Amino acid sequence: MTDEAGNEEIDAEGPSDDSIVVTGIGELVTNDPNRDGVLGLIDDATIAIVDGRIADVGHRDDVSAPDDVRIIDVEGRAVVPGFVDAHTHAVFAGDRADEFHRRLAGDTYEAILEAGGGIYATVEATRAAGFVELIAQSLPRIRRMVASGTTTAEVKTGYGLDIGTELAMASAINAIGMSLPVDLIPTFLGAHVVAPEYVGRPDDYLELVTGEMLTAVAPFVRSVDVFCDEVAFDVPQAQQVAAAAAATGLGFRVHADQTARIGATALAAEVSALSADHLDHATDDDLEALAGAGTAGVFLPGVSYAMRLPPPDARRAWDAGVTVALATDCNPGTSWVETMPFVISLAVLHAGLRVDEAVWAATAGGAAALGLDDRGQVRAGAVGDLVVLDAPSHDHLGYRPDSSITAGVIKDGVFLA
Ligand code: NIG
Ligand code: FE
Repeated sequence: MTDEAGNEEIDAEGPSDDSIVVTGIGELVTNDPNRDGVLGLIDDATIAIVDGRIADVGHRDDVSAPDDVRIIDVEGRAVVPGFVDAHTHAVFAGDRADEFHRRLAGDTYEAILEAGGGIYATVEATRAAGFVELIAQSLPRIRRMVASGTTTAEVKTGYGLDIGTELAMASAINAIGMSLPVDLIPTFLGAHVVAPEYVGRPDDYLELVTGEMLTAVAPFVRSVDVFCDEVAFDVPQAQQVAAAAAATGLGFRVHADQTARIGATALAAEVSALSADHLDHATDDDLEALAGAGTAGVFLPGVSYAMRLPPPDARRAWDAGVTVALATDCNPGTSWVETMPFVISLAVLHAGLRVDEAVWAATAGGAAALGLDDRGQVRAGAVGDLVVLDAPSHDHLGYRPDSSITAGVIKDGVFLA
């Protein structure tokens, strides 16, 4: 039997709940550091998932399967942990196709933003949309992310920039996470750019962001982010955001040195941020500092690809000992990229990672960047989140740069396809 994309469908038998045995796995990526290589591969593997959690994993002969559970035979296909997309702005309204055309014609991202477009155009559309329309527009996008194998995604606010709309964004992220089979991890990005009402008064806006706005949004998010860049907030301002996050007991992450090096990566290391993201202009010293601080480096090769800029050097970060993560940065301006298989290809073809490293960064690396220790690995106790590839090996993620490679997704032990 084949599906609409022409892929062979997987045969699944038995009762459907969140206990399942996946067998016939030609190659399993475990990311278990106690096994060999970057990916801890097991050939001819079986996984038993009980009540949504992995109970046992190993070679087919070594796994004891519980009685009377659904069995899926993936017939020699490769299986990898569910993708963890550690940096997205996937909840937004409208689009910026007009801006895309202006950039193709030579306008810069920075000039468009300064003229009140770019992020500000999406702020206007998101404010105008309201809660229900925001969900209606974002839900199909996130459903496509899930269909491509994303089982956990971080999603930022930051297109509201007033208390009501930032709250609506955080609530929309949580609501979508509750209605789709995906864990959405919300991040407060009130410090994306200075709100339109506060242009010329950045200190007043930061007072709002780190005060009343953070207090309102904090119960609905896990961490706080700041766009620390020449076109947004400088290092002292980002320090203020970091201090407010710490005082609220929330994690901290930074959009760091994306369009120029202004010291944002160094700041992320200094405050032991959860992650420093983008890193296009980070120096060797910056990367060494990240490695020393245990701050993850999140690479977003979809941005340079869509913006026709030189790719970020993830190779250098990996070699410096940084915990490298990959993410889509799904947003309407710089990277409307939804699928992690495509990001893995970009990381291999443009950003210098080997395929095994890129697959690790898209799974275990993403989990580390989000501070989640129960996913990104296939081992007893981890969440039962898996992607079945329509391929015999994870290598195909590197050289087939599209998402039709995903043959099936298992979320919390439930087979979705
Ligand atoms: O990660 N750098 C800032 N934020 C986004 C872009 C957001 C936008 O242009 O809407 C990013 O690239
Ligand atoms: Fe971003």
